[in-house]
Amino acid sequence: MNNFKILLLFLFAFSSCKTDKKTTPEVLNTTKPATDFVIAFGSCNNQNLPNTFWGEIKKNNPAVWIWGGDIIYSDTEDMAYLEQNYLKQKNNVDYMNFIKNLDVLATWDDHDYGVNDGGTEYPKKAEAQQLFLDFFDVPKNDERRMQEGVYFAKDYKVGAKSIKIILLDTRYFRTALTDDTETKKRYKPAINTDATILGEKQWNWLQEQLENSQASYTIIMSSIQFLSAEHGFETWGNMPSEVEKLEKLLISTNTKNAIILSGDRHISEFSKKEVNGLNYPLIDFTSSGLTHSYSNFSGENNQFRFGNVVSEKSFGILKFDFENDTVLMEIRGENNKLYETISQKY
Ligand SMILES: [Fe+2]
Repeated sequence: MNNFKILLLFLFAFSSCKTDKKTTPEVLNTTKPATDFVIAFGSCNNQNLPNTFWGEIKKNNPAVWIWGGDIIYSDTEDMAYLEQNYLKQKNNVDYMNFIKNLDVLATWDDHDYGVNDGGTEYPKKAEAQQLFLDFFDVPKNDERRMQEGVYFAKDYKVGAKSIKIILLDTRYFRTALTDDTETKKRYKPAINTDATILGEKQWNWLQEQLENSQASYTIIMSSIQFLSAEHGFETWGNMPSEVEKLEKLLISTNTKNAIILSGDRHISEFSKKEVNGLNYPLIDFTSSGLTHSYSNFSGENNQFRFGNVVSEKSFGILKFDFENDTVLMEIRGENNKLYETISQKY
C-alpha cells in the first residue's frame, strides 16, 4: 500500500468513526477481486490444430463460454465433410472436458458457415445451420431449428443484476460486399444503402430483444468487428448504414451498458467509441484466434483502438464487479498471460 492510500484510509477512518464504525470495511471492499460473474469467449479454432487454451480459460472460472465463430474450419458445400469436421471437434477430449458445467453460447462466422467471407449467397446455409445446431445438441423443437439464421439471446440473473447475451448472425442474410479495386484493401464501404449485415427479420428480432429488456448489461456477440473499420477486411464498417442503425437502436431502446464482442481477425484488440446519445462508451472487444493468429501482423489503422493489438493466440475474459458497476476486460493467452486490459466503469 502506498503512502497516499494509507493517508486516505486514515482520513476515512478518522472522519467516519464519529458517526458509523461500520464504514471502514467499505473502503477495503473496493480492493476485492471483481469476480461476481465471468464470461469467457474466443473464436477461430481450427479443429486440425492443437488448442492449448481450454484448461487455461477454465482457471478464470467462467460461468459462460461464448463462441464468436470459426468454431471449425470447413469451407465446403459438402455437408458430409462439414459434419465430419464438427465431429472431429466434438471428439476433442480437452474441449469436451472444458464445456462440462459451463453454459455454452455460439454464433458462427465464415469458416464454419461454409465459405470464406461468405454471406446470403451461400447455397448450403440451411443445411449448415442444422449441422451447427447438431454440434451444440440443440433440441429438434428449439426455435433455432425453425428460423433462418443462428441468432439467439439468453438472459442471466445474478443477484439483483441481469445480463443479456445476444448472438448475432452476420452471415445468413449478409448481402454482397463491395470489392476495393483501387487500393490493396480487400473491401471498401458500400454506397448502396440496401446493403445489410443482419437482414430485415433479424433486425426486427434484435429491436424486440432490446426493447423488452431491462438487463443491467447487454453483451452482443457479432463475429466480425463492429468499430474497427479501416483495415479493408470484413467489418460492419463495410456497411456504414448498418453501423449507424445499431448505434441508433441502442440509443432508442435505452439499452444499458452494451458491450460488443467480436472475433474473425486473428488479432485481438479493444476499440472504444463515444457515441452521441449513449451515456457510456461503446466497447468492441475483439478476441481471435484460439489456435492460430496473424503472427506477421505489421499494423493497421483503427481510430477507436484502446491499447495495443495482440497478434498472439488469445482468448477474452469479462469480469463483472456489480458492486462497483465495473467490467474488467482481459485479453489473455498462453499460460493465462495477460496481454491487454480495460477496466470500464458503467
Ligand atoms: Fe478465423
